[in-house]
Amino acid sequence: RSGEDADTESEIPAERRRLPQAIIIGVKKGGTRALLEFLRLHPDVRAAGSEPHFFDRNYQRGYDWYRSLMPPSLKGQLTMEKTPSYFVTREAPARIRAMADGNTKLLVVVRDPVTRAISDYTQTQSKRPGLPAFEELSFRNVSAGIVETHWNALRIGMYAEHLQRWLRYFSRKQFLFVSGERLVTDPAVEVSHAQRFLGLRPLISEENFYFNTTKGFPCFKKAESQGQLHCLGKSKGRQHPNIQPEALARLQEFFQPFNRKFYQMVGHDFGWD
Ligand code: A3P
Repeated sequence: RSGEDADTESEIPAERRRLPQAIIIGVKKGGTRALLEFLRLHPDVRAAGSEPHFFDRNYQRGYDWYRSLMPPSLKGQLTMEKTPSYFVTREAPARIRAMADGNTKLLVVVRDPVTRAISDYTQTQSKRPGLPAFEELSFRNVSAGIVETHWNALRIGMYAEHLQRWLRYFSRKQFLFVSGERLVTDPAVEVSHAQRFLGLRPLISEENFYFNTTKGFPCFKKAESQGQLHCLGKSKGRQHPNIQPEALARLQEFFQPFNRKFYQMVGHDFGWD
């Protein structure tokens, strides 16, 4: 080949699809879509748009299938995906460990487990309007305050239990725990922690965010759309039903030991109780 051809070739960016080097593994209703969309503002982040569910539902399809869902990326760009159910999937830690010998960066957006449960319930209710009341589903016996620990909406919030399984396969330093509450009140700070954790240049800042008072949530500016504001869709930031104060208090009490254990495991108090 002539030298001229080689030069032309080297100018063509070698884009290809790569397996993710970082995954948002949870938690459902924590604010996982917000975190992924915020990180996508970064020019060095390429992310799958929808949830691949590879390490839970689609593992038998193999890595080539998984890779095909990822957008093409240039050398030096980071490929990401988010599937919040991984955090509570028994097989997920061993499977993700096997992908890159435990070098995958894992992000977990955590939110007060009581609010998270209500958010989860609200989502289910939007699809099944005849759903029993939140209080009915939360307790085996309401008057005795016996919590229905098998209800998924509550089980997902026992973060310490789930994390214990992950820590058999990954060291603490492979994780970044993002506060779902701070992601709403102070998105730039949470995103800057994530940028640092992912080894990205600190390009996303306060200037990218704008608090939309109508929506009640931060919206964001993409560099390529001349400062136009983008907000997450209607299914993000739903109105929650009012829950009886006694039920709330009992659930807060129920989660307290799990929360404390979780704070200890991750070395950070998220301030839920
Ligand atoms: P609610 O709809 O209950 O308020 P996930 O993307 O993991 O499903 O999380 C959804 C939650 O993200 C929403 O729950 C909302 O509280 C939260 N969230 C965080 N930042 C947001 C933002 N900028 N816009 C909309 N929702 C956001």
